[in-house]
Amino acid sequence: VTRHQVLVASNRGPVSHTLGEGGELTVKRGGGGLVSGLSAVKGDAVWVCAALGEGDREAVRRTGGELDPADTGGQQVRMLDIAPDVFADAYNGIANSVLWFVHHMLYQTPTEPVFDADFERQWRSYEAYNAAFADALAREAAEGAAVLVQDYHLTLVPAMLRERRPDLRIGHFSHTPWAPPDYFRMLPDDPDGGVAAEVLRGILGADRAAFLTQRWANAFTDCCVRLLGAEVAVADGGDEMIVTHEGRRTRIGVHGLGADADFLRERSRRPDVEDRIALLREQIGRGPDGEPRRAIVRVDRTELSKNIVRGLLAYRRLLADRPEWRGRVVHVAFAYPSRQDLAVYREYTDEVARVAAEINAEYGEGDWTPVELHLKDDFARSLAAYRLADVALVNPIRDGMNLVAKEIPVLSDGGCALVLSREAGAFAELAEDAITVNPYDIGATADALHRALTMDAGERAERTKRLAAAATALPPTKWFLDQLNALRG
Ligand code: G6P
Repeated sequence: VTRHQVLVASNRGPVSHTLGEGGELTVKRGGGGLVSGLSAVKGDAVWVCAALGEGDREAVRRTGGELDPADTGGQQVRMLDIAPDVFADAYNGIANSVLWFVHHMLYQTPTEPVFDADFERQWRSYEAYNAAFADALAREAAEGAAVLVQDYHLTLVPAMLRERRPDLRIGHFSHTPWAPPDYFRMLPDDPDGGVAAEVLRGILGADRAAFLTQRWANAFTDCCVRLLGAEVAVADGGDEMIVTHEGRRTRIGVHGLGADADFLRERSRRPDVEDRIALLREQIGRGPDGEPRRAIVRVDRTELSKNIVRGLLAYRRLLADRPEWRGRVVHVAFAYPSRQDLAVYREYTDEVARVAAEINAEYGEGDWTPVELHLKDDFARSLAAYRLADVALVNPIRDGMNLVAKEIPVLSDGGCALVLSREAGAFAELAEDAITVNPYDIGATADALHRALTMDAGERAERTKRLAAAATALPPTKWFLDQLNALRG
């Protein structure tokens, strides 16, 4: 094996494969903030990820796990084939059902979560899956190499890897919010171990653990203090915090992730995007006054934390309370399939479609479709919608960062008013020029949409410019190199 000086590990890699009927493999770029951020993994750095499905497993069989750089846009990717039942338990059972739900505070707590024998089995699989990553990283890392471990799928890797390879510099980065201790400790928290402690100790195995905002970093250190009895101090002369637990020190960093302006601008000028702009404009159409209808755009994975249903309800409220907008505005909502192995995600997708159809049945008239909902993934169409949006609706109930909020101002052709949830990580950087909302409040969100629609064109352009500047302050390359330097420094 070639040994690497820089390694990155995450569950999802930059691409995934689908296996066609005739045995051919199609490669596709994955969605989500993590993949966007790690576009900066280049050169000698290797990206270790998991095979997510049958297509990926077939690709591993054909390549031995080292994907062809022609398929990955030049990135060196090492894909691990972890036993399907272990992977399913770890990814669907623990990572996306338990840890994601805890950090986004998504549980209906009177009935969930239920930590029973299934959970215990899934947790053992999660440990095995983390150990498989630790083994692979230990094998491929050069002496003293830097390893950047990503996200809630791999919380145990830092401590496991340190045991195997004490010579390495290990970082961990969380792309999600972190739950406050009162919520986090709903995880089994037996003081002699317990899942809650294991997660915290796993991450504290890193030399440095980093988060997207100070808010999530503080929640993490609060959990370390309350659940482990760890000590927290401010580092000498720096703005970093240090957690000390069982004699080991872990530095805590904050790195907001920004939009990749160069990539987005170049990509959004290509003909496929121009074609889709024309198509969307046709769908949006013109109002009774002959003016093009306004477009309220949202683009998300169909994800419970994104709050798509309340977004639709707020839009319905806008049409109900302010009839002047009927026929003059279209809600362009892209909700792309995500985590469809989980029943709650499938049900949520159905709910989104149902509410959109209700609004269309209630208010649609003539050639006006009030909600243009699209559930099929299309990156070029997303970029087209970014360019033509008059209003962007980004109203998650909780979100690590939310890159859509940053990408839209960068690509907007004519200025776009941003309605932004105060519970998105991006709020810390964009609050000043966005119209901010409490994501649970339908009336306030409807008012915010109205304010956004009526914002004076000059003000809108000014705000968009400032939003774009804030959104591009930390492009992925800087985000990545800052972490690498901090880890080595
Ligand atoms: C979030 C997570 C990422 C994940 C992405 C897409 O951004 O932080 O780790 O890759 O969602 O979710 P998926 O389950 O499809 O990888």
